[in-house]
Amino acid sequence: MVALAPSADALASTAPLYERVRGVIPPVEWPAFAGDIDAILELKRKRKAVILAHNYQTPEIFHCVADIVGDSLALAREATKTDADVIVLAGVHFMAETAKLLNPQRTVLIPDLAAGCSLASSVTAADVRLLRERYPGVPVVTYVNTSAAVKAESHICCTSGNARKVIESLGTERVIMLPDEYLAQNVAVETGVEVIAWAGHCEVHERFSAAEIRELRERHPGIVVLAHPECPPEVVAEADFAGSTAAMGKYVAERKPQRVVLVTECSMSDNVALQHREVEFVRPCNLCPHMKRITLPKIRQALETLVPEVTIEPAVAARARRAVERMLAL
Ligand code: 13P
Ligand code: SF4
Repeated sequence: MVALAPSADALASTAPLYERVRGVIPPVEWPAFAGDIDAILELKRKRKAVILAHNYQTPEIFHCVADIVGDSLALAREATKTDADVIVLAGVHFMAETAKLLNPQRTVLIPDLAAGCSLASSVTAADVRLLRERYPGVPVVTYVNTSAAVKAESHICCTSGNARKVIESLGTERVIMLPDEYLAQNVAVETGVEVIAWAGHCEVHERFSAAEIRELRERHPGIVVLAHPECPPEVVAEADFAGSTAAMGKYVAERKPQRVVLVTECSMSDNVALQHREVEFVRPCNLCPHMKRITLPKIRQALETLVPEVTIEPAVAARARRAVERMLAL
């Protein structure tokens, strides 16, 4: 698709926003974004809309049109606080479903309905029912990276930001934790709780290896390695710190390492690097193809047409909401 040249007004009004992304978007590319950004800002006012963007969204979305940015936990929490008529979720489908669960009366839009997640598609509600039959009485903790139907079969949800707290809150010796096998294994090490896992994996984080981390340390002496807990346990074991995307951002903001690598999705480094220009980021890059389905033209179109809208069958939503609200109440 060929982007139309933006008007002089659009270029002028978005000029201050360009300063936020200078460094990752060359000046020659900015006109390709300016028109959509200007239109989106206007449409947000007209629709009384808010844009919630995940940390893996590209810089022109994350820094130029989003109202709230964060990890899955922050986006879920913020979704409970908005009084907007329309929520646009710049992220993947399960995040938009969570926002809808918490805002049944509001219009929740996802700019591309096909923005899925390899974890969410690895498990079904029927799978959870079978697990519950096999392990009666063992609580089911479901990662938010799941469909509403799977959440509905679960006792409580968790994110990478609170998995340990959620597991420990249950006070049981055994839990079923799904669908991320690596997150489950990483949490089992942290908590000492016996975790019955499912064999789902994040297609982005499963590609990192311990050998790759060791090689990075050899090539970049003194580098600080921050890994997402969706990485295999041997990768987490090689890292200096493991935490959610928000926790990685906080680590950089507070500790200001001289040189750092974020072992996670590519755009995360771009977004954090723009906020900490004094820190050197080494960037091995694994893209999430689902997150990358969300673009400025699709956000603009969603705000113009109010589709695609996220809907959840009310009986499923009522049960899924309970699992999310239990998590948020902790
Ligand atoms: P966070 O909750 O850490 O942002 O992770 C979400 C996700 O999809 C990571 O792959
Ligand atoms: Fe799912 Fe992995 Fe993409 Fe996150 S990065 S949305 S867990 S596939």
